[in-house]
Amino acid sequence: MMTQSAAIHVPVMPREVLRLLQLEPGLTVFDGTLGAAGHSSQILPRILPDGLLIATDRDPMMLSFARARLNHDQAMLYQASYVDAVDVLAQSGVRGVDRVLLDLGLSSDQLADRNRGFGFDAGGPLDMRFCCDEGTSAADLLLQSQEQIAAILATWGEEPAADRIAAEIVRLRNSGAALQTTADLVACVESVTGRNRTPVTRVFQALRIAANEELQHVRRMLEETLPQIVKPQAIVAVISFHSLEDRIVKNAFRTNPSWTVLTSSPVTAQPAEIRINPRSRPAKLRLARWEPEK
Ligand SMILES: C[S@@+](CC[C@H](N)C(=O)[O-])C[C@H]1O[C@@H](n2cnc3c(N)ncnc32)[C@H](O)[C@@H]1O
Repeated sequence: MMTQSAAIHVPVMPREVLRLLQLEPGLTVFDGTLGAAGHSSQILPRILPDGLLIATDRDPMMLSFARARLNHDQAMLYQASYVDAVDVLAQSGVRGVDRVLLDLGLSSDQLADRNRGFGFDAGGPLDMRFCCDEGTSAADLLLQSQEQIAAILATWGEEPAADRIAAEIVRLRNSGAALQTTADLVACVESVTGRNRTPVTRVFQALRIAANEELQHVRRMLEETLPQIVKPQAIVAVISFHSLEDRIVKNAFRTNPSWTVLTSSPVTAQPAEIRINPRSRPAKLRLARWEPEK
């Protein structure tokens, strides 16, 4: 259930994205992480009148925000993972795309929704799934063995205290106090690491990534799906928010010789943007051009 009526998410590096994607009328653009259409609503006017925007988001709540902003015959929006872009393009009757944008992670709207469990300040049940019937909820992940929980926290959160936090989660569970809410999880992590938001942030990130198998989706998209959907000379832009994602993007662009990397080091947000939108601080934007005949 949605608890707010209008989207609050502010798109990251919009000027850089629009300029570096070299948008022009007539292009077909795939936005794999539509969110509240913050980027897409600025992309569409630049590719009209003949261009086409095809966009996906896994989260039905984000699609309803996007539909409120983007209501146009030349915009086709789907509830799907970007890894399913081949099927989505087939449904749209499109053979290939000229530009792709992936703005990874989650939006401020999801973070703020008390019913979703993404934000440790928002409260609510420990769910954290982008789509309610896909993947394993965070609460269910915390019912796994101590070793499995520790592995999730260490791998996806790079949390140094992963073993101790996992032991405390299992101790609470065995004493009949299994973690149900984000407040339970915050209290549990802080009982191990002290009142410090960094480990809490890492634990929430780890569970969210695991609940949605996010990095598997990013890797499949970069390595398998993108090469099937891009036209020659297509430009792809990817914004990532932590080193685990960024490493996958960097390696995928370097490993496949058909990509020409357009950003030798990633583009980052200007200080003025970071002041207005602190969420942009860790963002890294990488671009590559698809040149299969090289
Ligand atoms: C950072 S937000 C995108 C914000 C958007 N660019 C804007 O400016 O409004 C990331 C979005 O990607 C979606 N998402 C995450 N993983 C996805 C996947 N595998 N396929 C499609 N959408 C995904 C999330 O639900 C979220 O809405």
